Amino acid sequence: MSYVVEMLNIRKEFPGIVANDNVTLQLKKGEIHALLGENGAGKSTLMGMLFGMYQPEAGVIKVKGKEVKISSPNVANDLGIGMVHQHFKLVENFTVTENIILGLEPKKFLTVDIKSAAKKIEELSKSYGLNVDPYSKIEDISVGMQQRVEILKMLYRNADVLIFDEPTAVLTPQEIEDLIKIMKNLIKEGKSIIIITHKLKEIKAAADRCSVIRRGKYIGTVNVKETSEAEMAKMMVGRQVSFKVEKKEAKLGEEVLKIENLSVKNNKKVLGLKDFTLNVRRGEIVGIAGVEGNGQTELVEALTGMRPVESGNIIYNGNDITKLSIRKRIDEGIAHIPEDRHKRGLILDYNMEDNMVLKVYKNKPFSKNGLINRKEVENYSNNIIETFDVRSGEGGKSIARSLSGGNQQKGIIGREIQSNPDLLIAVQPTRGLDVGSIEYIHKRLVEQRDNGKAVLLVSLELDEVLNVSDRIAVVNNGELVGIVNANETDENEVGLMMAGIKRGES
Ligand SMILES: Nc1ncnc2c1ncn2[C@@H]1O[C@H](COP(=O)(O)OP(=O)(O)O)[C@@H](O)[C@H]1O
Ligand SMILES: [Mg+2]
Repeated sequence: MSYVVEMLNIRKEFPGIVANDNVTLQLKKGEIHALLGENGAGKSTLMGMLFGMYQPEAGVIKVKGKEVKISSPNVANDLGIGMVHQHFKLVENFTVTENIILGLEPKKFLTVDIKSAAKKIEELSKSYGLNVDPYSKIEDISVGMQQRVEILKMLYRNADVLIFDEPTAVLTPQEIEDLIKIMKNLIKEGKSIIIITHKLKEIKAAADRCSVIRRGKYIGTVNVKETSEAEMAKMMVGRQVSFKVEKKEAKLGEEVLKIENLSVKNNKKVLGLKDFTLNVRRGEIVGIAGVEGNGQTELVEALTGMRPVESGNIIYNGNDITKLSIRKRIDEGIAHIPEDRHKRGLILDYNMEDNMVLKVYKNKPFSKNGLINRKEVENYSNNIIETFDVRSGEGGKSIARSLSGGNQQKGIIGREIQSNPDLLIAVQPTRGLDVGSIEYIHKRLVEQRDNGKAVLLVSLELDEVLNVSDRIAVVNNGELVGIVNANETDENEVGLMMAGIKRGES
């Protein structure tokens, strides 16, 4: 059997945690190999060692049969290993070509002429069906295109082992389909791929084999065709996972949120949300379904006070809050799980403890006469961290940046729910999370509803909206297409509505 890459009995520790404990991964030439594990299981750490960003403390790495020490990403490049990171490393105001040649060694860089580089990039782009314009600026192209630039960067450096760290987390369903096609093209040309993902559906669609790690330990490797999604989920989480959200019938109470004829401008100064009307009552979850960029951001930012309203009103618990400040809305009991957890959810350089009190630290009992009571902060934060199973090396003392994305997200959700809000606005709450965490978070949202709170769920995952919501409002081009009851509709109908086709029109 010829393996292009073997990582054998790998160990890596971080302060307070063994991130990889005797982990083994063997990549066959020409396969797509999925690396599956919960948030914080140690997947990025393992791949970081293959790409030369960290050094293992024990174990052996072999590339094409030969034992190697991958002491830096440059060494990885020379060995033919490339990686697309979870957060892209592109310069916004540079062109595609400039970005691709940027990382080359100075000697090569100085002698490269842009034109011939662009030509080579164009050829690569064509032969793998990437459709990238070498002269576009990064800031002008979509996230999906930016990812392709990262792929081209690897190909330009002649990588034949390609690592993708959660590539689909930032993509739309259509872009995900395209990416899987691209990966299959790459395999045809003799490349070998490791892809990290939590999404079992994607593993089924793309991968040949799948290796699972759980809490830093190697669980096993399976043939994807012969293994069900449920079996893989169980390997990953260590218990049976339910994909269906269990909920009792909704017990509706009074109206908490009433949105009346709301119009809001987008960043381009035209109306991104138009004449939008919707209400949310106590005891229900209302989902907003739509393709990305169809008014969801404008709606959420208007509701939370981050963006001014052109016309219309927002009524909350009977009061007009259209012009109320962000701070006051929070104090009145509107909680927000933001779409961008790095920009709006956490202060990455603070520890988790301080992040858990970001919105309440000025209040009693956390502050008194301008002094912070550390003990109260610690207790409050630890309670959230335990209840919401936020895993990190040093608990509340861990710096937010060091946590995996999913654990950061669990922290934010815990903080928002702990504030006991009347209205919870959850935007993409399970983006990037593994099935175990998704199940957990969906339960917490349903619990809010059963406790008589109002929940507004904005999600690009149609499955999630259908599964979790009681009612679904569909948006297209900034307008409300219609509202349907979740138990009287299906993926087809909502999908058509997302494309702007109303009930009865198709
Ligand atoms: N640079 C780092 N410093 C400290 N701890 C880290 C660092 N990188 C990862 N960790 C910790 O190691 C564990 C594994 O993280 P990671 O490999 O990112 O998980 P995954 O990619 O599977 O979500 C987590 O508990 C994480 O908090
Ligand atoms: Mg990771």
